[in-house]
Formats: sequence, structure tokens, C-alpha cells
Amino acid sequence: MKNENEIREIIEYYASQRNAAEQENIVSMLREIQEVEGYIPVDAQEMAAEKLGVKRVIFSCIMKRIPDLKEANYSHELVLCTGERCQNKNSMVLLETVKKELKIAKDGLSADKKVHLTTQNCMKQCRTSPNMKIDGKLYTGLTEEKVLGLIRTLK
Ligand code: FES
Repeated sequence: MKNENEIREIIEYYASQRNAAEQENIVSMLREIQEVEGYIPVDAQEMAAEKLGVKRVIFSCIMKRIPDLKEANYSHELVLCTGERCQNKNSMVLLETVKKELKIAKDGLSADKKVHLTTQNCMKQCRTSPNMKIDGKLYTGLTEEKVLGLIRTLK
């Protein structure tokens, strides 16, 4: 997602409500996320599910019922760090590996439209570079083999 800090704040606010796991609270949270991002990214859903202590599938059910909420039209969000420290540890090679393996098009979508790839200029985890996030979860100290292993498990 593009505005991670803002999204984190929104999610933390709604997670701290007494009725955090109730539909009314979730719908308001999803609306705010959409206002910031334009739609509701997979990694924001993952983060929200964890903080609110609910299953991610609940969001999909709600979004299907409320037409003005736009879910990401792919299943996984992959963000590769291309900051300087990660680049020094071959992150550009990893990027090419991912692009080739998933046949990523110009819009960042894989050939099967299930994965969306973006890059980030430093994830503030330089000590463990090179880094990548899949659906908001950080993977560190990556190699080509590790990356291929991870993305081949994505469905
Ligand atoms: S450059 Fe990749 S985490 Fe800082």
C-alpha cells in the first residue's frame, strides 16, 4: 500500500474501539482505508485482520455486500525493497527474478492476475536486507531460491 503509516493509524484507531470486531466498526474502517488508498489493498486487510483479531475473509464478505467498497482485484500484494542497502545485496536481481517467474506486466500484475508487485524505497529494516513483504509480512535476508520458494506457494 502507498500510505502505510496513515493506514496503520486508521487500523489502530478502529482496533482500539470497544466494538472492534463488529461489522459497523469494520465498515467505517474499510471506508477510511479506501479514502486514503482508492481501494482496500490486501496488505491493509492482513494488517487489519491481525489488529482486530478477526479473519481476513470477514472483510471479503463485507466488501461483497457493500458495493461502494472496492476490494483489490488480486489476492496477494508483493512489495520488494529497492532501497540502497537492499540494492547492495542484489535486490534488483531479485526483482527481475520475481518479474520473470510471475510474468509481471507493466501494471504490476502477474499473468494470472493473482499477484500485484510494487517496490519500496527502504522498509527501514536495512540490517536484514534484502527484504520483501508478502501481504504485509516481512521476509528478510532473501536469496533467489528463497524468493522463488515463497512466490511459488502463492495461490
Ligand atoms: S534499503 Fe531495504 S530496508 Fe532499507
